[in-house]
Amino acid sequence: MLNGSGTFDAIAARRTFGDEVLERFPFDAFVSKTITLAPRQGNPPPRLWETPAGLINSIGLPNKGLEGFLSTDLPELAELPVPLVVSVMGFSHDELAQLVAGVGERDEVAMIELNVSCPNVETGLVMGADPAEAARAVELTRPLTEKPLIVKLTPNASEPQAVAAAAEAAGAEAVSLINTLKGMALHPRTRSPWLGGGSGGVSGPAVRAIALEQVYTVARAVEIAVIGMGGIQTGRHAADFIEAGARAIAVGTESFRDPAAGTRIADELAVISASERGISESPTPPAGARAQT
Ligand code: SIN
Repeated sequence: MLNGSGTFDAIAARRTFGDEVLERFPFDAFVSKTITLAPRQGNPPPRLWETPAGLINSIGLPNKGLEGFLSTDLPELAELPVPLVVSVMGFSHDELAQLVAGVGERDEVAMIELNVSCPNVETGLVMGADPAEAARAVELTRPLTEKPLIVKLTPNASEPQAVAAAAEAAGAEAVSLINTLKGMALHPRTRSPWLGGGSGGVSGPAVRAIALEQVYTVARAVEIAVIGMGGIQTGRHAADFIEAGARAIAVGTESFRDPAAGTRIADELAVISASERGISESPTPPAGARAQT
C-alpha cells in the first residue's frame, strides 16, 4: 500500500499530529511529492475543484527544487518508518538526469519514480504519452543509479500499454498508473475557467473504472511490477486492482477525505484476501460465499 505522489504530506501531517503519525503510518512505502530541478511556485490559485465524484487539481508541482529537497525535506522524510520513493520530473533529459543522479546517490532513498505524466505543466505530457520518449527517459537515467526506477504513466496516452512496454524494455523495474485525466471546471458566475492553471487533472472515484481497465491492459503487456491506483476507496476496490494485475496499490484522493485511508483499505483488503483464500481452499465452497466477500 503506497500513497499516490502528492496526495499525502507526511511532513505536514507529522507537524500537525505529532509522532502518532509515524506510529500508525498509513502506507508501506511513501512516495514524495514530485520534485523538479529548480524550485517552483506552482500554479496560481484556485488549485482544486470538487466534482460529484472526485477532484480536479491544478497544483503545478510546487516544490523546493532538488537542492532544497535534499537539504530540507529529505532528512524529515528519512524519519518515516517506511521506504521512501522520490518522485522526480525533468523539463528536459538533462534535468531528469541531474535529478536522478542527485536523488539516486542518497541512502535514504529506496526507489525513484519518474513522473512523466503530470498534466499541469506545459511540457509534462510529452515524455509520458510517447513510448519512444518514455524509453529514452529510462535509458538515460538507468545507468545513473542502482535504485529501482518506477515510471508513472499518464492515462492521457492513446496506448498506455505501449508506453509501459517501452519503459520495461529500457530497464524500468515498475510502472505506476494512473495519473490524473485532463479535466476542467468553469466558475459558476463568471463562466471562465475556475482553476488558476486553466485546466487540471481529474482523480477520485470518477476515474476508477478507467484506471482499472488501464491497469488490466498494462499488466498483460509487461512483466515488471504494476502499481495500480485511481479512485481506490475500499478494500474491495483494492482487490479489484490486484485481480486486474497490480502487484501493489496506491491511494490518493481518498486520503484527502480520510487521512487513515491507507490503513483502513489495507485492513479491508486483508480480510477479503483471507476470506477468498479460505473459500478457494475449501473443497465445497458455500453457495454465494464469493458474492458476500
Ligand atoms: C501537480 O502538482 O500539478 C500534480 C502532479 C501530477 O499530476 O503529477
